[in-house]
Amino acid sequence: MKRLLLFLFITHFSFSYHFNFECYKRFFQYGFDELSGCLDRYFLRKLQHTFNITTFIETGTYDGKTSSKAAKIFPHIHTIELHKGLFNKAQKMLQEYGNVQQHLGNSSEVLTTLLPQLKHETILFWLDAHYSGAETTSHTNIKESETIIQEELRAIKDAGIKHCVILIDDARNFGSVQNGIRYKGSVGYPTLHEIHTQLKEINSCFRIILLGDMILAYEAHHDISFSPTAHACTTVRFLERINKNIIKQAEQVITNASHREKSLIKLLANATKETDIPFYKRWNSIITHE
Ligand SMILES: C[S@@+](CC[C@H](N)C(=O)[O-])C[C@H]1O[C@@H](n2cnc3c(N)ncnc32)[C@H](O)[C@@H]1O
Repeated sequence: MKRLLLFLFITHFSFSYHFNFECYKRFFQYGFDELSGCLDRYFLRKLQHTFNITTFIETGTYDGKTSSKAAKIFPHIHTIELHKGLFNKAQKMLQEYGNVQQHLGNSSEVLTTLLPQLKHETILFWLDAHYSGAETTSHTNIKESETIIQEELRAIKDAGIKHCVILIDDARNFGSVQNGIRYKGSVGYPTLHEIHTQLKEINSCFRIILLGDMILAYEAHHDISFSPTAHACTTVRFLERINKNIIKQAEQVITNASHREKSLIKLLANATKETDIPFYKRWNSIITHE
């Protein structure tokens, strides 16, 4: 089977090499500041084809770049922004697309009113609403490092939207609990286990995988495979009770990661300086000193 790359993690099917490579190529060109940038069009196209998505919903429009790319790929787009200035700025970019609906307001509240009308759509959620620099705090109540992810997931569950795909950004910021030890992550962020529980409450058949800095949840019947590195990183990050042998095996797999996977791990290790999440730094040290 053809070897393909998914978010720098090699996959065997469904996601193309181009999607992954193009998606993160710019990080190597411009460095860490671009880590939480907008989604790449190859990535979006691949998601659309793989899951047959009819509606793309983005929380946190920011400057509208991801939505403008999505507008060329998905039949319907909804994008939600809390900050009036950013909403207006994005409007300039998005007004040319007839299939984009912009919403001004708190994402969880907008989702609560919007989702009952979209029950028959196949939705890809791009959950990316959070504090992102001083610009996003003015005129809003967004505090530094705050995320609204748990309220958003509750809104999806309450609307009864089960058959969907959920992509959550900034996995590096989420905390972890492992063998009773709590690693805090960024201020105001829940743990990955709390997110895992909420995703399973939306759909108990969800498969959940950590793709570098994103969390992807999709229904188990989709025939998609991921690289051994993606599985190893997911195991170590998500398992609450994990014995030393499992960690050792996972780290052995990470040692054999591809060149691009290793580059991404290095970026993530640098990006988690402010948190007490040890994983990326540990992975970085094992790939650096192998
Ligand atoms: C990282 S940026 C989004 C980037 C964008 N999704 C992309 O792919 O290019 C986060 C955005 O979320 C917005 N935001 C923060 N809290 C929000 C909330 N409760 N509801 C809606 N938007 C929110 C911020 O103002 C900021 O524009």
